[in-house]
Amino acid sequence: MIRRITVLFVSCITFASYFLLCCNNKPEQKIIRKPIDYIRPIPGVNDSIPTELAEKGKVLIAYSDCYTCHKINERSVGPAFNDIAKRYPVKKVYIEMLAQKVIMGGSRSWGYPVMTPHPKLSLEEAKIMVSYILSLKK
Ligand code: HEC
Repeated sequence: MIRRITVLFVSCITFASYFLLCCNNKPEQKIIRKPIDYIRPIPGVNDSIPTELAEKGKVLIAYSDCYTCHKINERSVGPAFNDIAKRYPVKKVYIEMLAQKVIMGGSRSWGYPVMTPHPKLSLEEAKIMVSYILSLKK
């Protein structure tokens, strides 16, 4: 009789711990890539952008397809221009890098959505556009 109770007891414990273990295993987390909702500004001293250049960039952007995915103040498909301005210091290297990115397209700096490439833009035009975006820095 005692043996039977022991066996029963042991099986209960086994069952209970098995159950506990199973329940503690969190369901596999799905990897969801959503746009990031924080901005980590890159530190740096800002150079000045000539107003004329910024104005020219504004016009070039208006004539291109940028506004289908970007808005000035809020995130759309792509990040808000204001947020891009917040993130990067006005420096030749960043303007160059961002201009290349506009031409090449790409993703991952701001999350999952992809920016289409703009191969028809010259590096010069892309740089002027980026200068306008960075001129939105407050
Ligand atoms: C198809 C939608 C789309 C179009 C059109 C588009 N963009 Fe983008 N753009 C994005 C997305 C999405 C990102 C974020 C990419 C990432 O996460 O790396 C982005 C990011 C950027 C960035 C920041 C890149 C970085 O690495 O931080 C700049 C600057 C930019 N776009 C400028 C432009 C300009 C200028 C144009 C017009 C010539 C343009 N975009 C057109 C979707 C678009």
